[in-house]
Amino acid sequence: MSQVLEVIRLLGLTKSIRTKRGMDKALRHVRGYAVCSCLWSLLETGVLDRLLEAEDAAFDALADEAGLDRHVLESILMYLDGVGLVRFDDGRVRALPKLRRLMAEPRGFFELTYAYEPIFHRLTDLLRGRARYPDDVGRLGKYVGRGSGQLCRALPYPILTDMLRRHGARKVLDLGCGDLAFLFYACEALPEVRCVGVDIDPPTVAYAREVLAESPLAERIEVVQADMFDLGAVAEAHPDIDAVTAVDTYHEYLAEGEAKVAGLMRQLRTQFPAALLYVGEFCKQPHEKLRRRPTAFLEHHLYHDLTNQTISDAAGWRRMATQAGLAILEEKVFDIVGHGYFVLR
Ligand SMILES: C[S@@+](CC[C@H](N)C(=O)[O-])C[C@H]1O[C@@H](n2cnc3c(N)ncnc32)[C@H](O)[C@@H]1O
Repeated sequence: MSQVLEVIRLLGLTKSIRTKRGMDKALRHVRGYAVCSCLWSLLETGVLDRLLEAEDAAFDALADEAGLDRHVLESILMYLDGVGLVRFDDGRVRALPKLRRLMAEPRGFFELTYAYEPIFHRLTDLLRGRARYPDDVGRLGKYVGRGSGQLCRALPYPILTDMLRRHGARKVLDLGCGDLAFLFYACEALPEVRCVGVDIDPPTVAYAREVLAESPLAERIEVVQADMFDLGAVAEAHPDIDAVTAVDTYHEYLAEGEAKVAGLMRQLRTQFPAALLYVGEFCKQPHEKLRRRPTAFLEHHLYHDLTNQTISDAAGWRRMATQAGLAILEEKVFDIVGHGYFVLR
């Protein structure tokens, strides 16, 4: 108390309060960065999942099993203890409820942001024009798939699975399947369905195969490393595909113009004549709306802008379907989450 009084005597009450409030406001931002960086390093080294799986773990075992620098691990854990995410006492560590809640549904948000960490790491070089995306710096593909997969379980997968069910889908081809989260979800909900997932990114496909090998659904899902613009071999091997799904995949090519995506849709219609196209895509939020209510779409738009991914609005997706010569059988656009779903024939 005497120290507070001394500060007030030196700075005056108004300046002391202003300084304290300013620091508190800055802390939110600075802490977000520090907490994310610490959690990501625990995620990447497997420590995070060890903590979440166990009631309580020995520090020595955590450090030794993953071959980690004890001093750095201790610094990270002390910090996370201070902010109330873990308890680190007497050589033992445990995840606190606050960390468990963050790593439940919102985990996908942390993982998706981690996928873009290399971009932020080189942001100054990108800003100065000394590095370019994707030639000099890329995303972490595995975490794009994992993060997006977890986030989409909340709404996009239930909606698309319901569409598949109502249209009687039996064999699904999922474009840009990532870590197969959608196909797992669909197979769990629709016992008759069999699936093929394709993704262009080799580390993502390797990770998908790892996950699939351990899944009881492995019999019903196949993963192929392929470019969705070149699916001749897949079409030949699976003439019975009756549903071509794509969750947040087409937009990766919108920077090349709507004609590129419309052309792809037209080609898919020819290659898989028995199939309906199911599109789950971001629908751009007007900036004015985000300014009024700065939701997570602000971060989402930033990640996409920095990596030259254009986001279309719902009208754009309708235009592309029409350009591709497809009719819209069904449409659901959720402005509240900035996502739209279309069934095309
Ligand atoms: C934003 S992620 C969406 C992942 C997944 N659909 C989901 O539900 O979480 C986009 C995925 O599309 C993949 N992709 C991008 N271009 C592709 C292409 N030409 N052919 C196949 N996959 C592609 C990326 O590697 C990435 O895994």
